[in-house]
Amino acid sequence: MPIVASDADSYIEASRSSRSEWRLSSKDQLYVKKIRNGTVIDHIEPGHALDVLHILDINGKRGEVVSAVMNVESKRYVRKDIVKIDDRELNPQEVDKIALIAPKATINIVREYEVTSKKRVQLPQTIKGIIRCNNPSCVVNACEPVTSEFKVEVLEPLRIRCHYCGRIMGKDDVLKQF
Ligand code: CTP
Ligand code: ZN
Repeated sequence: MPIVASDADSYIEASRSSRSEWRLSSKDQLYVKKIRNGTVIDHIEPGHALDVLHILDINGKRGEVVSAVMNVESKRYVRKDIVKIDDRELNPQEVDKIALIAPKATINIVREYEVTSKKRVQLPQTIKGIIRCNNPSCVVNACEPVTSEFKVEVLEPLRIRCHYCGRIMGKDDVLKQF
């Protein structure tokens, strides 16, 4: 195994330049090894990797192979979190939930070690159904089945407005629901 260094928190593995050759340079060192198939959620707001796992209902008890790194250096944003999930691709609702708390996240689909799709999350202007209004008197919280609807007024810091009662909610309000 081409593991070249280790410490208490993470290990660094030389990245592979071809199937048979392994290269070691500081530029190519990774915190977590590359995955064969699955999804890499990159450029997550630092400190939100666990929220992303929570959104995806990943708690490690079902045997999922998942790795998360937090507060690592990023070329683009100084610091970032990364979540790598083996053998899973995300549905659009999951991606929208991630966009609410990590608007700069990139969703990379990996197949046979190659990134086959890379998309930055994009929050729709209107969010339907994925979060509840936190106003107890709002019509969406009454017994009748009404789908929640919010307009995104500001992406960062997040500010969304309930279509029915005008209640303004922010990232912390949203996080409480995930
Ligand atoms: N990755 C992985 N396993 C693979 C391929 C990629 O875990 N088989 C991870 C990389 O470590 C990186 C992310 O997926 O965190 C995106 O990979 P890539 O597009 O190769 O990296 P960058 O060019 O640095 O991406 P960006 O330009 O989006 O920052
Ligand atoms: Zn409301």
